[in-house]
Amino acid sequence: MNKKTVTTILDKKQASEKTTVLTCYDYVMSKLISSQGIDMLLVGDSLGNVKLGYENTLPVTVEDMIYHTKAVKRGNDGALLVTDMPFMSYEISVEDAVKNAARIVKDGGAEAVKIEGGIEIIKQVKAIVDAKIPVVGHLGLTPQAINKFGGFKVQGRTQESRNKLISDAGVLEKAGAFAIVLEAIPERLAKEITERLKIPTIGIGAGRYCDGQVLVVDDMLGMFTDFTPKFVKKYANVGETIKTAVKNYIDEVKEGKFPMEENAYK
Ligand code: KIV
Repeated sequence: MNKKTVTTILDKKQASEKTTVLTCYDYVMSKLISSQGIDMLLVGDSLGNVKLGYENTLPVTVEDMIYHTKAVKRGNDGALLVTDMPFMSYEISVEDAVKNAARIVKDGGAEAVKIEGGIEIIKQVKAIVDAKIPVVGHLGLTPQAINKFGGFKVQGRTQESRNKLISDAGVLEKAGAFAIVLEAIPERLAKEITERLKIPTIGIGAGRYCDGQVLVVDDMLGMFTDFTPKFVKKYANVGETIKTAVKNYIDEVKEGKFPMEENAYK
């Protein structure tokens, strides 16, 4: 096993190599994805949508994140394991932020945490990094701010918003973040941020020029179909494969075609 670390991810930017990231929430998927050499597994709070059926990520708890991180850890073969800090686990105080990040690392087994936001949470980022926990930043369409944004809207379209994103990215790098996720922002802005930073940018709906890419695994496999953003590419239609298999199973059981002799104990 070639274990990926924070250093691997930083070195990739220097070598102009792309970093590959997928979200992951359970043991089986962790085994499947990590066996293919992905650089980073992200236990995203998108699990609120795709695994727990919530409308958004706001109800997700630290306990949810720890539970899923433990499962992913057991299946992981070499990827850097990063876990999201959920809504309200870091905003209230620096002390809360460090305590919750520590729980995600100590109890869940994550190797780094991801936090949404810029200058507003910079004290938290610095304190978590000072506590020896690597941090990934997350800027742009940060889903935990959905009520502030008034929906899932592309960010960085006004000059003011562009300037803030550029400044936030610089501030996060200075505070010690080792990578930054850029979500749903114009490609040109993502390119500019990527060129300004020494740390890698990981894009999702941020175009072609980021240092790496991340997708929600259930989106790219065609398993989650409640809504599909424009930036998603479906690499498979696993949802349809599952439906066909289940329909065949139901039919065969009803018709007495399953189980057969070979599936029975003598
Ligand atoms: O929660 C998540 O899955 C994420 C990715 C979309 C980057 O934050």
